[in-house]
Amino acid sequence: MTEVGIDAIEIETGKLKLDLAETFAPAQGEDPGKYTKGLGLDASSLPDTYEDIVTMAANASHRLMKRKGLEPEDIGRIDVATESAFDNSKPVSTYVAGCLEQVFDGDFLHANKGERKFACVAGTQALDDAFNWIRAGRNQGRKALVIATDTALYARDDPGEATQGAGAVAMLIDENPDIVTFEPEQGFGSADETDFLKPNQQFPSVDGKRSMQVYLARMREAMQDFVRNGGDVHPENFAYVPFHTPFPGMVRKAAPLGYRHCVRGTDIEEALAEEIGPQPRSDEFDTSEEFLDAITEYTKKLQETDQYREWYERAVEPTVDISSQVGNWYTGSVHLARVSGLFDALDAGRDVTGKQLLVASYGSGAQAEIHAETIQSGWQDELEAMTIFEQIEDRHDISFQEYEDIHDVHNHDETTDVEPMTTPHEEFVFDGWGRMGERQYRYVE
Ligand code: CAA
Repeated sequence: MTEVGIDAIEIETGKLKLDLAETFAPAQGEDPGKYTKGLGLDASSLPDTYEDIVTMAANASHRLMKRKGLEPEDIGRIDVATESAFDNSKPVSTYVAGCLEQVFDGDFLHANKGERKFACVAGTQALDDAFNWIRAGRNQGRKALVIATDTALYARDDPGEATQGAGAVAMLIDENPDIVTFEPEQGFGSADETDFLKPNQQFPSVDGKRSMQVYLARMREAMQDFVRNGGDVHPENFAYVPFHTPFPGMVRKAAPLGYRHCVRGTDIEEALAEEIGPQPRSDEFDTSEEFLDAITEYTKKLQETDQYREWYERAVEPTVDISSQVGNWYTGSVHLARVSGLFDALDAGRDVTGKQLLVASYGSGAQAEIHAETIQSGWQDELEAMTIFEQIEDRHDISFQEYEDIHDVHNHDETTDVEPMTTPHEEFVFDGWGRMGERQYRYVE
């Protein structure tokens, strides 16, 4: 069977940087440690006045297609995953294709375009759709472009405001890919939840604390389903474990629960039992409360063990590096985590070709998905071609006044007239509204 996976990735960050410790914390009257240590975030990427989900998606896709020498006719499918769409009918992928047609000679006339929605897990679902399309042989030799793009902004003074972010991750899905192939086993945990939603409104309604519990519950179910479906989860078999990262502190909470599950019945559990006792099993307790207390106590002890710490520092911590600098990119977040982990291997000069990733995606509302990927021999060249760290470095560091202004620009309920804070160069920009209320874009040389 043909191997299918991610052949190339390009990332576009919002051009503005909100420093959480230096700028946001003092204005909120909060200790900077809440952001840097508690949530694990140093800064958020925010969009300038002329940036939005379309410009970021189109800029990342343009760079990807140019670098890979692709023409529009080579692409048979464009799927955009987003939680920040501004139209209930016309998909963002049509706007992105329209932008790209301004700079390429050909067109996307015969490409199937769509938009995927299930909160942050939609990016992974769109990868899944592309995988199935190619595996079914319906691609006729063409490739799929999957783009996860979001402006993840919260209402002012919502606790989620600290976790904002904006950016796009464009991924080329193809046969015999250069970066990773997708393994067929999957696990899902999915339930009707009311923890984070955007009922036709721009800023989310969030029950932050509950959303964290729902994240953990769905991840546990997805892990159980993955194992039931034949997935291997032995912690030593994975180079990295990229999680959906709304903020790194969330991953810090999810990782020990995942590890506890992954070591069950393995040599690692036996070794751990000598140090901290065996894992409590539910059938050993009379009530669920007693079991919960025992498992909570066990998990605390687990996090103190060398085995756990070494695994976390090797396989999980490196995956939240980019996130800590840019915040939550919703649909793009787990795909940043994958790249972040691979950059760790690149920086360390470690060849991870043939090794696996265990990818844990999540979307509020709520659904988790777990699958494995195998790293391919072209991963180093692909990573070296990416410019994400230069882009992060080049962001314009905004003052709190500028933050207030730019937040209002992206608040659909406000009318503002704010000047751009950066100068666009060789990129797509938002260029005002058309006669039917459509957003318009142009390429700036
Ligand atoms: N030094 C060190 N740590 C500090 C500190 C200090 N001075 N002050 C606070 N902290 C710690 C706190 O102890 C806490 O850590 P623990 O949870 O480990 O105890 C952490 O910093 C955050 O502090 P609070 O809990 O007081 O923060 P908060 O209540 O103001 O907000 C939040 C936290 C609820 C997550 C909020 O940011 C939020 O609502 N975020 C949006 C929702 C979200 O991201 N949910 C995640 C799961 S849902 C999902 O994943 C989908 C998605 O992308 C949205």
